[in-house]
Amino acid sequence: MPESVNHLSQIIEEMRARMHDTALDKQTLVDPELLEKSRKLDRLINLYHRINRSGSRGEEIILELTLDQNMEVIEMSAVGKKIGAAKIELVVGDITLQDTDAIVNAANNRLAPGGGVSGAIHRAAGPGLWEECRKLGGCATGEAKITGGHNLKARHVIHTVGPVYSGSPGDPVQLGNCYRNSLQLALQNGLKTIAFPSISTGIFGYPVDKAAAVALQAVRDFLAQHSGIELVRFVLFSESDFEVYSSALSKLA
Ligand code: APR
Repeated sequence: MPESVNHLSQIIEEMRARMHDTALDKQTLVDPELLEKSRKLDRLINLYHRINRSGSRGEEIILELTLDQNMEVIEMSAVGKKIGAAKIELVVGDITLQDTDAIVNAANNRLAPGGGVSGAIHRAAGPGLWEECRKLGGCATGEAKITGGHNLKARHVIHTVGPVYSGSPGDPVQLGNCYRNSLQLALQNGLKTIAFPSISTGIFGYPVDKAAAVALQAVRDFLAQHSGIELVRFVLFSESDFEVYSSALSKLA
């Protein structure tokens, strides 16, 4: 086990001890806010140990925590794995705010502004994005196309169309293609950092646990086979999606 992981493990144990002391000191064990923090910390420690156990291929574990000045508020802000020189990172957040070289849009076949991620990206990028998209002749399911980022922080948007979930064996193939083709396009354009939303798990109805397993496996395999990409960040819109992806990351074959 790398020394940094041992060290991190110790820090987490210390924080847990401190958290419980704080709760006892203040006799606030029934304080719902403190209890919630304590439970969150327990979930975090379990997750850390699960991911740590799964790190059997020399893949390093990454866990970023946010504390307040008193070390009392504890949040997991990112969790991830290193695959060779690249990093897979999971965060809770808004895809439109990412400063990666590219953000990925969960688009429709016309590449028209829709609802969900697509609506949010088009609103944040401004009308120039649709002007550019409408000239691309649409995009087939599983394929990807690239445009500029317009008013976004990201210089590029990679548009990919996920499958509408049907429960058929084609679903994971098409979903995996979205991630592979988006990464391939990023590589071809010399991009090093890319942020994905959870493709197909909103309006297209793909169950998030199944989608997370497909997405992470596709990205991990791609990074193991290609060099050039430094960071793949999954930007999850809810804490529950974040936990599902974290759990899938820990189970990656
Ligand atoms: N940042 C990150 N994730 C977001 C954001 C955001 N700003 N907004 C929504 N999400 C999440 C959703 O909560 C869901 O978990 O992204 C995931 C994907 O949801 P959708 O945007 O509905 O994408 P998808 O299921 O692939 O459906 C695509 O929706 O908007 C239309 O035109 C689009 O027809 C296409 C379909």
